[in-house]
Amino acid sequence: MEISTRLLDTSNQGIDYAAKLLTQGEVVAIPTETVYGLAANALDENAVKKIFEAKGRPADNPLIVHIAEFEDIYKYAKIVPENAVKLANMFWCGPMTMVLPKADIIPSITSGGLDTVGIRMPSNPIARSIIKKCGFPLAAPSANLSGSPSPTNADHVARDMVNRIPAIVDGGDCSVGLESTVVSVDEYGKVCLLRPGYVTLDNLKKAVGEDNVTIAKGVMEELDSSEKALSPGMKYKHYSPKADVVIIKGEYSAFVDYVKQNCDNNTAVVIFGEEECVLPCRHFNLGMTAEEQATRLFAILRMADDIGIEKLYFRAPCTDGVGLAVYNRLLRAAGFEVTTLD
Ligand code: TXA
Ligand code: MG
Repeated sequence: MEISTRLLDTSNQGIDYAAKLLTQGEVVAIPTETVYGLAANALDENAVKKIFEAKGRPADNPLIVHIAEFEDIYKYAKIVPENAVKLANMFWCGPMTMVLPKADIIPSITSGGLDTVGIRMPSNPIARSIIKKCGFPLAAPSANLSGSPSPTNADHVARDMVNRIPAIVDGGDCSVGLESTVVSVDEYGKVCLLRPGYVTLDNLKKAVGEDNVTIAKGVMEELDSSEKALSPGMKYKHYSPKADVVIIKGEYSAFVDYVKQNCDNNTAVVIFGEEECVLPCRHFNLGMTAEEQATRLFAILRMADDIGIEKLYFRAPCTDGVGLAVYNRLLRAAGFEVTTLD
């Protein structure tokens, strides 16, 4: 069914209207500091069903539940280990999601049928005031069509969601630009990194101790079809533009030679920071620091599609700090296709 979509601003009226729609069980796209989210009442099965429909998302991929007050974690998680409290104290409000045993009040459709739930307290003031106005938690996956890159501005959302949802709140560009760090915390306090993000592996280790943190298989390498993903999102192809993405590892001079041999009119190259690209094909600069690269990656993937690029050659980014998250998203966009030059 086609729905007309209103673009709302972040005035009190805009926020009130968004909260009204959400209270009526509708779906509204809202800004967060990471990426835009496709929000609905996390406790209302019918409202959550509309999210899955609008995105075309597989039913077994669970949604993150967004709260505005730390204490609400006790309403939606059955067990909150001490290390979860430590992580929340350090990184909330902010770009980190914790997967914990779910309380019965969370409907099974929200948790994709799992007995755990991902909970996040975002820092974006617009997101927070909408959640507070609603008085219920918001289930919100990234506001893109399933499989395409996450939206980092309202225009990206509109392209995927116009005529599919009643409203989009335009809160400008997202400051982080990549989805939240997702960790599971088990009853013994062991923390497992399921999706890297702006809160880094080092940040997590400092918060709960190095020995308590592991990285899930599937974060940096492709899972075999027989392997069970610890996070259902890992098994789906993600963040993919229409263009074929290839990651190239190696010295810059070898990279330049390789691209010169392989590029044509339908190719673009993505480089970093100070690297001057003297190539006879289009190029984008992702930026110098990993933080900068995080804010630009998804916009560049979408832009490449807009101008009809068929093949995108990426220089492999450094994987330190936030770079691990950039590389993780890139690996998925590339379907794990990496070419190493010698
Ligand atoms: O930054 C973000 O996290 C954004 C904003 C809107 O908050 N949301 C987001 O949601 O990226 P989504 O649905 O696109 O990605 C959530 C990821 C998925 O890969 C999902 O499989 C995983 O988190 N996830 C959610 N709940 C889980 C659970 N109970 N167990 C394991 N993985 C879970
Ligand atoms: Mg997503």
